[in-house]
Amino acid sequence: MGKIRCIGILTSGGDAPGMNAAIRAVTRSAICNGFKVKGIYRGYDGLINDEVKRFTTEDVSNIIQTGGTILRTARSKEFETAAGRKKAFETLKKEAIDALIVIGGNGSLTGARIFAEEYDIPCIGLPGTIDNDLYGTDNTIGYDTTLNTITQCVDKIRDTATSHERIFFVEVMGRDAGFLAQNSAIAAGAEAAIIPEDSTGSDQLIKFMERGIRKSKKSCIVIVSESPKCGAMYYANRVNKEYPNFDVRVSILGHLQRGGSPSARDRILASRVGVGAIEALVQGQRNVMVGIRNNEVVYVPFVDAVGKRKPIDKQLIKVLDELSI
Ligand code: F6P
Repeated sequence: MGKIRCIGILTSGGDAPGMNAAIRAVTRSAICNGFKVKGIYRGYDGLINDEVKRFTTEDVSNIIQTGGTILRTARSKEFETAAGRKKAFETLKKEAIDALIVIGGNGSLTGARIFAEEYDIPCIGLPGTIDNDLYGTDNTIGYDTTLNTITQCVDKIRDTATSHERIFFVEVMGRDAGFLAQNSAIAAGAEAAIIPEDSTGSDQLIKFMERGIRKSKKSCIVIVSESPKCGAMYYANRVNKEYPNFDVRVSILGHLQRGGSPSARDRILASRVGVGAIEALVQGQRNVMVGIRNNEVVYVPFVDAVGKRKPIDKQLIKVLDELSI
């Protein structure tokens, strides 16, 4: 691999608030360090189909405060194939892009890892997902904003739950990780969280009901991590059957959790890791995700970032349990 002159940047997978702040940071830091920048539209699909545009500092003006991604995004099926990745590499050669920065979650960085193993192209990942499920970074871009959005929604649900004295099961996103559910439950003062990391599985409901939710309260809110089989509907149906005296409702928050202006924390995280990505390339790093751990910028090999499971701090479970009596 020769000298890096031009850097390509793309966003991939589910969008996350703060992705634009990251695009801005990468673009401006790259230009400051003497690199050309090219924006690649629609994730890996745009790389395969050569949807590429030269970026100047003006292209990233006035976006730090906006949600979504100006580069658009996609979950590319074609990039999962060797033929798709070959086409993607041909675009990089044609566009004279010497290094690639990918902003995305687990699937997107897995794609970057495979691509970088197959082709001689330095790839740097930025953790962009509301799920916070990437190993090696304390937080991912978008997670804090989504946590705040969920908290505001649950505050509103609380008003009606209290008025009607109902149990609400509120389903939140997170793919197969419970960071959003557990921490939003603490932040919103919910009575319980049902998360995939808690090995008691569906018994979490029995544990919760038997603890006597109505000992001191006449309404309650349970935050449930999304799950194909055991989401909020599953638990509501069970309560209806097994505890018919309770008045139960479900609220599935859905994609509103991914929208909105990024929080200050997400903007700062995105700005720091964006600058860190260019610094990584200047240092000759490749195939790493830039994260922040204990307030320090760290470079996490892709194999660890996507291969290791990020654990939930068990202390968080205790905090919620003790405070929800
Ligand atoms: O990974 C981000 C995420 O929002 C997950 O929390 C969720 O499971 C998934 O994406 C939803 O994806 P889509 O927008 O494709 O329905």
